[in-house]
Amino acid sequence: MDFNIAVVKGDGIGPEIVDEAIKVLNCVGEKFGHTFNYKEVLAGGCSIDVNGVPLTQETIDICKNADSVLLGAVGGPKWDNVDSTLRPEKALLGLRSELGLFANIRPAMMYEALADACPIKKEIIGDGFDLVVCRELTGDVYFGKHYRKESENGYGIMGCDDMNYSTYEVERIARRAFEMARVRSKKVTSVDKANVLETSRVWRETVTKVAKDYPDVELDYMYVDNAAMQLVRNPGQFDVIVTGNLFGDILSDEASMITGSIGMLPSASLNEGGRGMYEPIHGSAPDIAGKNIANPIATILSAAMMLKYSFNLTDEANVIEKAVNDVLNDGCRTADIALKGEDVLSTSQMGDKICEKIKLG
Ligand code: IPM
Ligand code: MG
Repeated sequence: MDFNIAVVKGDGIGPEIVDEAIKVLNCVGEKFGHTFNYKEVLAGGCSIDVNGVPLTQETIDICKNADSVLLGAVGGPKWDNVDSTLRPEKALLGLRSELGLFANIRPAMMYEALADACPIKKEIIGDGFDLVVCRELTGDVYFGKHYRKESENGYGIMGCDDMNYSTYEVERIARRAFEMARVRSKKVTSVDKANVLETSRVWRETVTKVAKDYPDVELDYMYVDNAAMQLVRNPGQFDVIVTGNLFGDILSDEASMITGSIGMLPSASLNEGGRGMYEPIHGSAPDIAGKNIANPIATILSAAMMLKYSFNLTDEANVIEKAVNDVLNDGCRTADIALKGEDVLSTSQMGDKICEKIKLG
């Protein structure tokens, strides 16, 4: 089969890690007889440099017309001082909203081989964990009105960001979470701050209503502060965590770190039709950009998610996931997951090792 993929390499380490994901996709394509066509587009800081804006209509159109979008990372200190409406991150937010990617799926699991890189003690981790953060991605304070006004009490300028959620938005992400839990361990934890926020009270009421359609799935609730604590106290208790945009942003970084490195976590951002954008959850890491030392695994696993979620190529996706697992078991490590004294592979060497396994497997 033929698939058209829009590729947004972006900034910082984006180009290096995306190149490895493409290498792996081509390897899988060869093995299974698929052709992946890539159309590279600019977004983020590199687009600011060339076009004066982080996201052009051309990029949006190409991404909308592609079968899927593969993205590296955007942003960096070079663009820290640009006007807030022109920041590189706006490209990411713009693509998410233009493509209607409301469901952000961020799986985090413990790799046996990386147990020593996990910052949590063995006694606490026990048998490990396998959870997925199901983050709402096109609403919340991220997309509320951002503005400034003079405060009324003479306290100076006030920065304001509207936080809001409609029942429609909560219902559709909640349904995704329950559907996902159904084929996993049948447990959803809804994370909010309903003891303080009205947004969260609407969230909780709506999730509770949706749960009635999924009697086979257990539902519990957690306040976000407690959830942050429980993630490091007992991550094994979670299956699917469903939460809003802001809380999901924070909790997914935390979830990634307990796997050993933020360089391991992939993500899928899906719309109502199943179209998606696939990207690592980490950022552009400008401090290590261009050095061929970044970990490409999160992006490679994001490509695997693309095969599974957008192209229905489950066997092909499993082959990638198994290859990653196998190279980790063989002791292959990039700098971020290496322990002191262990040999370290470069970004491209890690990509090569994974391809070798795919060819063999
Ligand atoms: C993420 C990132 C983005 C977010 C930033 C870069 C805007 O942190 O994908 O988690 O906050 O969503
Ligand atoms: Mg984040």
